[in-house]
Amino acid sequence: MSKRVSITVSVNGQSYTQLVEPRMLLSDFLRHELGLTGTHVGCEHGVCGACTILLDGRSARSCLTLAVQTDGADIQTVEGLGTIEHLGRVQQAFRDHHGLQCGFCTPGFVMTITDMLLHHSLDTDDEIREALSGNICRCTGYEHIVNAVRELARERASFK
Ligand code: FES
Ligand code: FES
Repeated sequence: MSKRVSITVSVNGQSYTQLVEPRMLLSDFLRHELGLTGTHVGCEHGVCGACTILLDGRSARSCLTLAVQTDGADIQTVEGLGTIEHLGRVQQAFRDHHGLQCGFCTPGFVMTITDMLLHHSLDTDDEIREALSGNICRCTGYEHIVNAVRELARERASFK
């Protein structure tokens, strides 16, 4: 067994210092060590986007990131965006537009969109679809997800 390494990370505004195996994936660290199971794991090789989190404010695949790489980082997971009683804005838009069915892909989409609303042009449906192209959904056909993002993009534009 390899020597465990101490890391300190901020997750959803809370600081954690933990010993981790150098080979532990960030997705496993979040789910198994911190109990944050809102981050889902689908393909485990960077294709589906289900495991997307925000790492220092930008979307990242937690299945392609080692926990030790995040020492000192600021991480946000879907649990940090809202609660069942008080959904975050992106979550609410998904609900309003029926942007989910089984919900497996949803946390990854919500985290990606949170990043894209800050850093990506979403003025056209093509731009929205391109921004979402790294996330795979097996259920929705994407149409309702695009509708949710279109509303969020319009809302963002009205604040500019
Ligand atoms: S589980 Fe990470 S991209 Fe699929
Ligand atoms: S809602 Fe089922 S995979 Fe997207």
